[in-house]
Amino acid sequence: MRAKKVAVIVGSLRKESFNRKMANAMIGLAPDNLELEIVEIDNLEMYNQDLDNVPPESWVDFRVKIKNYDAVLFFTPEYNRSVPAVLKNALDIGSRPYGKSVWDGKPSGVVSVSIGSLGGFGANHHLRQSLVYLNSPTMPTPELYIGQAESLFNSDDILTNEKTRELLWKFVNSFSEWVEKNAPHAPREDWWENRPKGMRGNWLAELADI
Ligand SMILES: Cc1cc2nc3c(=O)[nH]c(=O)nc-3n(C[C@H](O)[C@H](O)[C@H](O)COP(=O)(O)O)c2cc1C
Repeated sequence: MRAKKVAVIVGSLRKESFNRKMANAMIGLAPDNLELEIVEIDNLEMYNQDLDNVPPESWVDFRVKIKNYDAVLFFTPEYNRSVPAVLKNALDIGSRPYGKSVWDGKPSGVVSVSIGSLGGFGANHHLRQSLVYLNSPTMPTPELYIGQAESLFNSDDILTNEKTRELLWKFVNSFSEWVEKNAPHAPREDWWENRPKGMRGNWLAELADI
């Protein structure tokens, strides 16, 4: 059985982001049946409904990319008790055009990482609320709220806190079971080669409908 492909989305654009460091630590702990890759969201133009009929290339690329993953794993900071705008922007872009959401039916997981002691609880649950609406089966437990993130890494960005490593390991192993159970429709590996005729010529225009 092939490994399930998981898009890892990090809701921080900061170079030294603790969420990104944590995501990389989890990638290193993932079991063999999961293939985790970070999908960048820093190049996504701001969502604007006026552009739905002529979507920017960055939106189209993002939608195509996400469609090709079996599952999504979010790492979110907490900004003012909610998710950062860049992460919400990525969610909104993926959710449109109406009826063609790339999140629909795609299993997901949420990890929040913060320097505060509540571990980004507010952001974690705001994100879960959107994912419920987007019909993405989101792993309910184990939950993972990581606080005081600045104390968990050494100067080489290695996660040195053993307890946190253990939590990440448990989370990613539970997530692998969640994905196996909830991702019955694996994307075809050859879907691009076999894409519909309409996507072969002026395919950007055709993808406006994705
Ligand atoms: C605009 C803004 C709002 C923030 N609001 C919160 C908050 O509500 N709760 C919290 O725990 N931390 C908050 N923080 C601190 C973040 O936890 C901290 O900047 C963290 O490092 C962000 O994640 P990152 O390291 O992945 O970029 C906020 C930071 C910024 C810049």
